[in-house]
Amino acid sequence: MVGGGGREHALAWALERSPRVGEVLVAPGNAGTVPAHGMPDPVDVDAFADAARDRAFDLVVIGPEAPLVAGLADACRARGLLVYGPAAAAARLEASKVDAKAFMLRHGVPTAAARRCDDASSALAAITELGAPIVVKRSGLAGGKGVTVAESVDAAEAAVLEAFAAGEDAVLLEERLVGQEVSLLVVCDGRDAVPLRLAQDYKQAEDGDRGPMTGGMGTVAPVGLLDDAALEGVMRAVVRPTLDGLRAEGTPFVGTLFVGLMLTARGPLVLEYNVRFGDPETQALLPLLESDLFELLRDAARGALGARALRWRAGACACIVMAAPGYPGSPRFGTPLSVPGDLGADVVVFHAGTRLEAGRLVSAGGRVLNVVALGHDVAQAVARAYGAVERIGFDDAHYRRDIGARLAT
Ligand code: AMP
Ligand code: GLY
Repeated sequence: MVGGGGREHALAWALERSPRVGEVLVAPGNAGTVPAHGMPDPVDVDAFADAARDRAFDLVVIGPEAPLVAGLADACRARGLLVYGPAAAAARLEASKVDAKAFMLRHGVPTAAARRCDDASSALAAITELGAPIVVKRSGLAGGKGVTVAESVDAAEAAVLEAFAAGEDAVLLEERLVGQEVSLLVVCDGRDAVPLRLAQDYKQAEDGDRGPMTGGMGTVAPVGLLDDAALEGVMRAVVRPTLDGLRAEGTPFVGTLFVGLMLTARGPLVLEYNVRFGDPETQALLPLLESDLFELLRDAARGALGARALRWRAGACACIVMAAPGYPGSPRFGTPLSVPGDLGADVVVFHAGTRLEAGRLVSAGGRVLNVVALGHDVAQAVARAYGAVERIGFDDAHYRRDIGARLAT
């Protein structure tokens, strides 16, 4: 398993439940996972793939976007390894929002209207013309923090200037969509696709969906906002043309296609693609999955998914992210953490930015712990997760108190 966040801890945890799995080693991992000692940095793709070949890993699962965009899946496949994760060429869908928008238009994927601007002066002129509200998106990777939903022309102009000052090549100016946002994750083998349950992410730092964008402050699943027929419609109108388009362009997609959707009055529209499991969507989805995750990812990696339906347990799951004080701006690290061992059978704590320092567990990243709970419904899962959060020792932890609230309205 490549990566070091809560997503990778959750994936390793779910893979280990398979009777076919002996051991899941995680590189670089965190204090919650078993380390693959001595592996190079995963963005050093040739060195990493050489080491993976030498150690004859049975399956390489790549969590984060950076190594995918750098070509780690390609480098591992070139050495004969079985890999779950898309080629760098397909990872462009996440690495470049400009390319992703052009791809959606080429293949008739429903999405928000947008204008591409390659320099600050044309972007400022376009903002004057289009007015607010307007969404400013940096084209390149920004850890989920590159989007500004601007309520005013001033805020949009500031976001544009900041993007180009930071060295961004291009921005998209996009119409502001209104509706419920959902995350659809689809396991793909290059041809066939199996959807996971819908999840909902709470991306902004503060309660009430205020404050800066983050990588995600919490998630709930499943989300009942699309019935089976509507989900089938999204598979037909969004997922199928995306996968067929990628295949037609010579970059078949093997891995998790993550479609961020806004459910608008005009129907579901694509906000973004990611080319990997969502973080923290994965943490709330995998505890609900009854099917064998290892068989699923292995078969996808082999191009042998076929038509299959996954088995899910009844009920719901919630994930609360406990982040470092100061996250996402300037998080402070090194805080001692204490996680009680008796949080209950329906609770699991996935580590994100954690490490052991002289045998003590301390925070080492922006998002630190993911507190996950199952329940009969979203409300019960959320209540149980918050009950566990209150028992965790983590001074000045920052977390939202309203995960799941959008579904209650
Ligand atoms: P993205 O990285 O493109 O998903 O954008 C991050 C977040 O910004 C999304 O999850 C939405 O909450 C918000 N967002 C992105 N595009 C739009 C849009 N066109 N209208 C409203 N909100 C948006
Ligand atoms: N939670 C959103 C993402 O993984 O990008």
